[in-house]
Amino acid sequence: MSEAKLINRALKAVMNRQTGDDPYRPAWHLSPQTGLMNDPNGFIQFQGEWHLFYQWNPLACAHGAKYWGHWRSTNLIDWQHEPLALAPAEEYESHGCYSGSAVDHNGTLTLFYTGNVKFAQGRTAWQCLATVDRSGEVTKAGPVISLPTGYTGHVRDPKVWRHQNRWYMVLGAQNLAEQGKVLLYSSDTLHEWALLGEIAGSHLNGLGDFGYMWECPDLFALGDKDVLLVCPQGLPAQEKKWLNAHQSGYFIGSLDYAAAHFPHGEFHELDLGFEFYAPQTTAGDDGRRLLFGWMGVPDAEELLQPTTAKGWIHIMTCPRELTLEQGRLMQRPARELQQLRQQRVCYQQTAASLPALPVEHAELVVQSTGRWSACFGEALTLVCDESGLTLSRRNLRSGEAEYRYWTGDVSRLQILCDRSSIEIFINDGEGVMSARYFPQATPKVVWQGEARLSVDYWQLRSGMVV
Ligand code: FRU
Repeated sequence: MSEAKLINRALKAVMNRQTGDDPYRPAWHLSPQTGLMNDPNGFIQFQGEWHLFYQWNPLACAHGAKYWGHWRSTNLIDWQHEPLALAPAEEYESHGCYSGSAVDHNGTLTLFYTGNVKFAQGRTAWQCLATVDRSGEVTKAGPVISLPTGYTGHVRDPKVWRHQNRWYMVLGAQNLAEQGKVLLYSSDTLHEWALLGEIAGSHLNGLGDFGYMWECPDLFALGDKDVLLVCPQGLPAQEKKWLNAHQSGYFIGSLDYAAAHFPHGEFHELDLGFEFYAPQTTAGDDGRRLLFGWMGVPDAEELLQPTTAKGWIHIMTCPRELTLEQGRLMQRPARELQQLRQQRVCYQQTAASLPALPVEHAELVVQSTGRWSACFGEALTLVCDESGLTLSRRNLRSGEAEYRYWTGDVSRLQILCDRSSIEIFINDGEGVMSARYFPQATPKVVWQGEARLSVDYWQLRSGMVV
């Protein structure tokens, strides 16, 4: 019996023992049944169905040798657990099947991932290929790219796409001077790859020192531009930005494929909340660019989250639609999520006179001018004033209050709540703030302030996995 099959059998036994009482388990966001989940991987609409794979340590609430878990859906909101897709069984992946992506190659679902290998004096990385057959069985084809010269063992997270009859791949990398980079490769076969060059990174394209490692790149055309999503590690915190342990953001530019040159604009964070990292996008059959992110951040105080007492940790964000409008990347909750809404209730009154509304799983659209605040349970506070938005909560390690900011005029907020998470979409997609929070009791939102608000409120149905 294969390693993946043995593990699947053991996991089923563990899952059957889980109890129902789990107040922080999301009702409609994706979360691992057991163990630690991190990056979304292999996001694709393949033969009409959505597949989302994910970084998974099914054996503990800790990082370590990673596996690929797998969910499948026909509608982006009701998801089904699939058998474990990849387990680190071979020498070239001994310390984890790290992040990667999926493509449709002549009707075969084809996966790319990083085989992570650690040894006493360091580490190396192989970019690997695997295929999924119609029954869901995964066959590994082994490494297709070895470590390029001039880089440390931190070269990973292949994102593959097709452009004008060729395949392209971006990789996150660290050079020997410990500068974060993005490498561009091309291929005709998916098995032989040529390195075209560095297209972005620290000390490139007008950036100065911009981090020691860049993880999880994703490059795609949007409108008449190309967008590079990437997670640079090592950016020093500023007064109101780059406040998480590691950042996740984007550059807008135009990729010259022949010259492997990507002149681009400034770095913008994708999400200004407490938890967001390693997003991955795909193009749906209808042409929409959709994104899932990990609602977590590596190397933060993540492992102190109280769900570990129930044997699991971390969730995905909701699926988001990306567009480029007036040179800005906009993010909106995927329109499919509206199917979760139950009856709408509307309020138009001063903030302080609004009733406390249950937000265990709820959506709120708040239109306002003026100053007001909202407390979600006792665990998270949102303040809206002339400077913008301030989100605060207590740090899990120190117990001290910590803050995240969005600066600008706020006219409309779309707030999605799911037991232990909140996602705040600002001004119809101009900005997002996402956070996990762990209230003592079933959370209600309690309002303060004399500003007049218009609030549309829906309870959301459960959208979770069978
Ligand atoms: C990002 C990351 C990736 C890596 C994976 C390992 O969170 O560090 O660079 O492939 O997680 O789980």
